[in-house]
Amino acid sequence: MEELEEVIREASVCKKCKLSESRTNVVFGEGSTKAKTFLIGEAPGFNEDKEGKPFVGQAGKILNETLLKIAGFERSEVYITNVVKCRPPNNREPTQEEIEACFPYLDFQIKFVKPKLIVTLGNVATSTIFSRFNLKPKPISQIHGQSFSINSLLYGSLRIVPTYHPATALYNPKVSEIMKKDWKMIGEILRSIK
Ligand code: URA
Ligand code: SF4
Repeated sequence: MEELEEVIREASVCKKCKLSESRTNVVFGEGSTKAKTFLIGEAPGFNEDKEGKPFVGQAGKILNETLLKIAGFERSEVYITNVVKCRPPNNREPTQEEIEACFPYLDFQIKFVKPKLIVTLGNVATSTIFSRFNLKPKPISQIHGQSFSINSLLYGSLRIVPTYHPATALYNPKVSEIMKKDWKMIGEILRSIK
């Protein structure tokens, strides 16, 4: 645990990229460090920046109250974080430079938690994780809900399942239905590898 606390402390004052200039709080991530399921979003938004916790705003409401329930998960039994730990101004996409500067934290978190299943939420998280695991990048519309098996010395054996970002449901009801099917399958995948 000490190692984790050390990294959280380091991140809380991190100035490795420009996002440090406009953030209120660093949103490191939260959840069970024994979680089998590890969720990765894009970046903190307005509410997350204020509270210092991931997925507590509108997208969080969809994730917590609908999607996790469909999968049969309690929020407390999964680990949740983002690709970058500080809010980009006006919720713009994080740049490649910011993603790279922040990646060591995400890498540490994955190695520390050692999940069996990583769910990437949206294109930014999916492309970041795909590039780390040398998977061929594809748009989320083509690969959502598919399970990619990884066997790695560094990370052990795990599955990666990309799906849409929960915020997409706020403006796209069609995708919202597809997303619900993905989450039903995500629950089934986890139970099949337990
Ligand atoms: N969107 C994200 O990608 N992450 C959050 O924590 C909140 C909204
Ligand atoms: Fe540091 Fe990541 Fe925040 Fe950039 S986004 S300042 S790298 S914690």
